[in-house]
Amino acid sequence: MHMRFSAALVPLIFAGAAVALPGVQTTDVIKRHRLMLQIRDASTTLVAMARGETVFDADRAARLAGLLREDAAAIPIHFEFQNSDPDSRARPEVWADWTGFEKAAARSEAAAAALQTEAPEPLRRGIEALQRTCQNCHRRYRFGK
Ligand code: HEC
Repeated sequence: MHMRFSAALVPLIFAGAAVALPGVQTTDVIKRHRLMLQIRDASTTLVAMARGETVFDADRAARLAGLLREDAAAIPIHFEFQNSDPDSRARPEVWADWTGFEKAAARSEAAAAALQTEAPEPLRRGIEALQRTCQNCHRRYRFGK
């Protein structure tokens, strides 16, 4: 199953659609930052559960893993438009090497889909693999660390 638009994301994606031309690019940047923050929050919560820092809840872990997978699948659509917003840390390589960027997103999606959420230890290993896919994309396509 391949879902490009999760129900949760549709409002994020289209929230700025009615905005007139000025500011549209910035709206895109806000939306993709929001997507990344949602991705970060879901992975942080899973890491805490996997390490025993918070109570392990397999149902919650499964829901968050599903959200991560949908969000990772939605990364490319959030970067469709190139812009030069000063608040953006996206490198021009995102658009110069769009195929590579899509592949990097697909690797994150696959790592999220492979997460095993029934027990802390396998979850921990899966999250580590997922985080490597984040870093790989950031290293190539994002300014800074
Ligand atoms: C396919 C590439 C790609 C993948 C995969 C990816 N990111 Fe990102 N991420 C980016 C880019 C590019 C930016 C910079 C966006 C901008 O500033 O416009 C970014 C920005 C961020 C930010 C900063 C948001 C802000 O408000 O400044 C966080 C946090 C983040 N990513 C977390 C993650 C995590 C966690 C994962 C993995 C679970 C992940 N990302 C996977 C490309 C990716």
